[in-house]
Amino acid sequence: MDFSNLLLDWYLQNKRNLPWRKTTNPYHIWLSEIILQQTRVAQGLPYYKAFLDEFPNVKTLANADEEKVLKLWQGLGYYSRARNLHFTAKEVSKELNGVFPKDYSGLLKLKGVGEYTAAAIASFSYNEPVAVLDGNVFRVLSRYFGIDLDISLPKTKTEFQKLAQSLLPINNPATFNQAIMEFGALQCVPKSPNCNDCIFNSSCYALQKKEVSNLPFKSKKVKVTKRFLNYLIIEDTNNNIIVEKRTNKGIWQNLFQFPLIEEFEEKSSNASMKLIKKFTFNKKQPNEISVINEEYIKHKLSHQDLHIRFYKLSFDCEIKDAESIEKIKEYPFPIVLHNFIETNFS
Ligand code: ADE
Repeated sequence: MDFSNLLLDWYLQNKRNLPWRKTTNPYHIWLSEIILQQTRVAQGLPYYKAFLDEFPNVKTLANADEEKVLKLWQGLGYYSRARNLHFTAKEVSKELNGVFPKDYSGLLKLKGVGEYTAAAIASFSYNEPVAVLDGNVFRVLSRYFGIDLDISLPKTKTEFQKLAQSLLPINNPATFNQAIMEFGALQCVPKSPNCNDCIFNSSCYALQKKEVSNLPFKSKKVKVTKRFLNYLIIEDTNNNIIVEKRTNKGIWQNLFQFPLIEEFEEKSSNASMKLIKKFTFNKKQPNEISVINEEYIKHKLSHQDLHIRFYKLSFDCEIKDAESIEKIKEYPFPIVLHNFIETNFS
């Protein structure tokens, strides 16, 4: 049997039972694919279900408040995906009368829908023969065919796209696309794959040449910046707290946070305290300041290593814009702040 037929056979015996594989509804497929970008199936699954429960069709999603969409997305990260999801739902709902474009090139015009997502929706929903190319597909093809081109280069992507397209059975594109991604997710995994127990172990180039751990080849490494964030828990005499919405562009745009003082190097909590003691709110100084965590809480994002401290600033007066804990819990926060709230304000 050739590569594609072996792969399809493997898939039929090993595939996971996933809800988005039981539908051709483009809204469901689109939602699942946006959630699954940069996210593992086990993590994405409850979000997929929660979104469909809350927003059973594109119009209900379009009509929702952005805050509600971000709240449901809370914890998935890469929040621009949620903002684009909402934007595109409005576009499909209002300009396309709630109907998703019917082919790859139409889908590609939607915001947040790139080549991968357009190919996934077109093949899964409409059986259009366009091959998907994601991290799993790069890994499987580079190893099996022994392709050591640098996958951070756009021209490499074109090469792989051509190869994937040539392998795609015209009569069964949806199953083949699911199969190759599933094979990358379950069998041909990034680290220490179990090649002894693989259907391709007599024909895989990388296994024969002991190149499995070197493929795919990627030259560009992600540059990670360290950030040092001091969040101020400003509490008034009614135990109400100040939160603010982040409106500036960036990963956490439109999420909420506590007032923030950022520093640009590692500091002891005492050293940071000197800066925080200068803080005034409505020209008043707090009557008590204390550090909540001496040691930084470390939180890794794809391009940032966050080092976080919380300080409590108690004021013995009412603060006009301070809000109750119950109210604050309704807002969408970055997960590290959400976890802080859940642990500290029960
Ligand atoms: N990751 C991205 N798309 C997927 C899909 N349709 N099934 C499983 N994992 C995926």
